[in-house]
Amino acid sequence: MPFDQLTVPELTESLGEHKYIADRGLSTALLLALKLGKPLLLEGEVGVGKTELARTVSTMLGRELIRLQCYEGIDMHQALYEWDYARQMLFVRSLGSEEASDDQLFGPRFLLERPLLQAVRAGDQCVLLIDEVDRADDEFEAFLLELLGDYQVTIPEVGTIKAQSRPIVILTSNRTRELHDALKRRCLYTWIGFPESDREVEIVRSRLPEVGGALANQVVGAVNRLRAMDLEKLPGVAETIDWTESVSALGSNSLTAEIALDTLGAVVKDRDDLEYASRNIQDVIS
Ligand SMILES: Nc1ncnc2c1ncn2[C@@H]1O[C@H](COP(=O)(O)OP(=O)(O)O)[C@@H](O)[C@H]1O
Ligand SMILES: [Mg+2]
Repeated sequence: MPFDQLTVPELTESLGEHKYIADRGLSTALLLALKLGKPLLLEGEVGVGKTELARTVSTMLGRELIRLQCYEGIDMHQALYEWDYARQMLFVRSLGSEEASDDQLFGPRFLLERPLLQAVRAGDQCVLLIDEVDRADDEFEAFLLELLGDYQVTIPEVGTIKAQSRPIVILTSNRTRELHDALKRRCLYTWIGFPESDREVEIVRSRLPEVGGALANQVVGAVNRLRAMDLEKLPGVAETIDWTESVSALGSNSLTAEIALDTLGAVVKDRDDLEYASRNIQDVIS
């Protein structure tokens, strides 16, 4: 799919064919990221479809998805490259009294590619997902700047490797902390909020085509009332889908107070919240 001629409605439709329901704002941001060859930073609550968008873009375009899941303490060796110590040792031993040169030891033979290096090498054959970047620390964020700005990475022992063509890069953040301006400057930015009710019903129905519209409507209404309550953790779209599926799995096509209580764990995942929602279940379902 070439991007230069693609319009926002066409992109929205194509995403929809892959079961991803995007609003105009999100489609526009994605289209611009594709056309301008810039990384797209998606920020929003947990479970609003950030990771899923990257997955959908990769299937839609028939490109490999290369995913880097961030976590506290992640560094360039997990993200970019590692040396295969075990094989280096074997090699050194096999030489006997001969000495191994640095070029031999720290050359392509013993280089293990991690996601960022894979993506730079794969270029426009891949979609690179840098997932939950807010979990990584400041240093790691700074380390990403070279990749995001210039589509290149530097391996101290080897040198700089530049992508021959640009991968599509999607970053996500659950906003557990503020990201740096330097990182944001290199990206197009979109905030993904909870969807409007109509759109959420559409999402549920595209994910669970066997479920009736009435139940989908009821569950979406109930989830929206939960979101308006003073809960510790607000349910995302993923929870709306899980809840609908749970109710349906119990053979019900309507959300009664009894069924809602039985299945509340599919949507409320915090002990205090669960207690609060259970006590106020009548307000939740109607
Ligand atoms: N706009 C959407 N269209 C279709 N499915 C969606 C959408 N938003 C969320 N989902 C569903 O919710 C699930 C969770 O979304 P995910 O991308 O994991 O959330 P996030 O990464 O924002 O925490 C997805 O697997 C998908 O089934
Ligand atoms: Mg995610």
